[in-house]
Amino acid sequence: MTELKTTKLFNPDADTSLENRLLISGETTHMMILSDNKYPWSNKLYQTMMGNFWIPEKITLTADKQQYALLSKDEQAAYDKIISFLIFLDSLQTKNLPNIGEFVTLPEINLLLTIQQYQEALHSQSYGYILESVASPEKKAEIYKIAINDKFLRSRNKYIVDHYQEFINNQSERGFVKVMMANYLLEGIYFYAGFTFFYNLARNGKMTGTAQEIKYINRDELTHLALFQGMFRELRKERPELFDAALEAELADMMRSAVEHEIEWGAYAIGDRIQGLSAESIAQYIKYLSNFRMKRIGLDPLYQEVVDDPFPWVERFTDFNGAKTDFFEEDVINYSKSTKLNLGGLKGKFGKK
Ligand SMILES: [Fe+2]
Ligand SMILES: [Fe+2]
Repeated sequence: MTELKTTKLFNPDADTSLENRLLISGETTHMMILSDNKYPWSNKLYQTMMGNFWIPEKITLTADKQQYALLSKDEQAAYDKIISFLIFLDSLQTKNLPNIGEFVTLPEINLLLTIQQYQEALHSQSYGYILESVASPEKKAEIYKIAINDKFLRSRNKYIVDHYQEFINNQSERGFVKVMMANYLLEGIYFYAGFTFFYNLARNGKMTGTAQEIKYINRDELTHLALFQGMFRELRKERPELFDAALEAELADMMRSAVEHEIEWGAYAIGDRIQGLSAESIAQYIKYLSNFRMKRIGLDPLYQEVVDDPFPWVERFTDFNGAKTDFFEEDVINYSKSTKLNLGGLKGKFGKK
C-alpha cells in the first residue's frame, strides 16, 4: 500500500511547478501561496465559507426556553439525545480535521480545511449556547453526557471514531481516500436525522430559535460537503489508479453501513413517537440523501428504488435567501465546466445568483 508522502516543515527546495502541485503527496514549500490556485473552485468556496460568518448568540432563544419545558416527554428526550450526538460530531470534526490536513499538499485546500475546523468549533459553541439558554445547569450537564453514556450512542460514536483512528494509526494513500469518505459520511449522512427533527419541530411552531441555529449550522455543513466533493473530484483526476474497483466497493460498503446506522439512530431517537415524522419516513429520507451523496463523488447510488423525497418541506429551511442548496452543490461540482458558481445563501451579499 502506497504510503502518503510527508514533507519537512521547512522545505525550501520543493519543486512546486504545476505538475507537482497535488492534493496529496505533492511538492510544497509550505508557503501559503494563495493566488493562482490550482483548483479555481476553491476561491469561490473560500468566499462562500467566509461570507457565511454568523454568531450563535445573535439568535434569541428566550421563547425556546419556555417551549422546551412544554415539549412532550418524547420530544424532549429526542431533543436531548440529538443535541448531544450533534455536539459530539462537531467536536470530533474539530479535533480530527488537522489529521487530514496534515497530508494535504495544496495550500488552498489547507485554507478551506482550516476554516472548516473553526466552523466546527463554532457549531459546538452554538450547541453550548442553546443548552445554556433552554436547560437548567443540571439538565445541561446530563445532556452533554448522553453522547458518552447512552449505550446506543456510545457504540455508534466508537464506530465513527474508529474510521478516523484507523487513518491516524496507519496513513496510506488508500487510507486517505477512506478517511475522506468517513468525513463525507459524517457531514452528509450523520447530521440529517437530527437536522430534520429540529426542522420538523419548527414547522409545528416549536423551538424555532433552535431551528434557526441549526439552519446556520446546516449552511456551513453544505460548504464542507462541497469541499470534500471537490477533493474527491480532483483526486480522481490526479490519481485515477487509486480508485480501483476494490476501493470503490469499500467506499460503497462504508456508505451502506453509514445509512443503516443513521436509520437505526432515527428509529432509536425519534421512532414513531414524534408528530410529523416516522422511523419509516426517516429511513427513506436517509436513503434518498445517500443516493445524491454517492452521485456527487462519482459512485453509483445504492438505493435505486428510492426516488421521492419524503420530506419536501425541509427545503424551506435549507433554502437560503431563495438559492437552493442543491443548486449550490451542483454548481460547485460543475464549476470547472461553467466557471460560474451559485453562491448558495449569499445572493444578496455577492449580488449574483
Ligand atoms: Fe459542524
Ligand atoms: Fe462540518
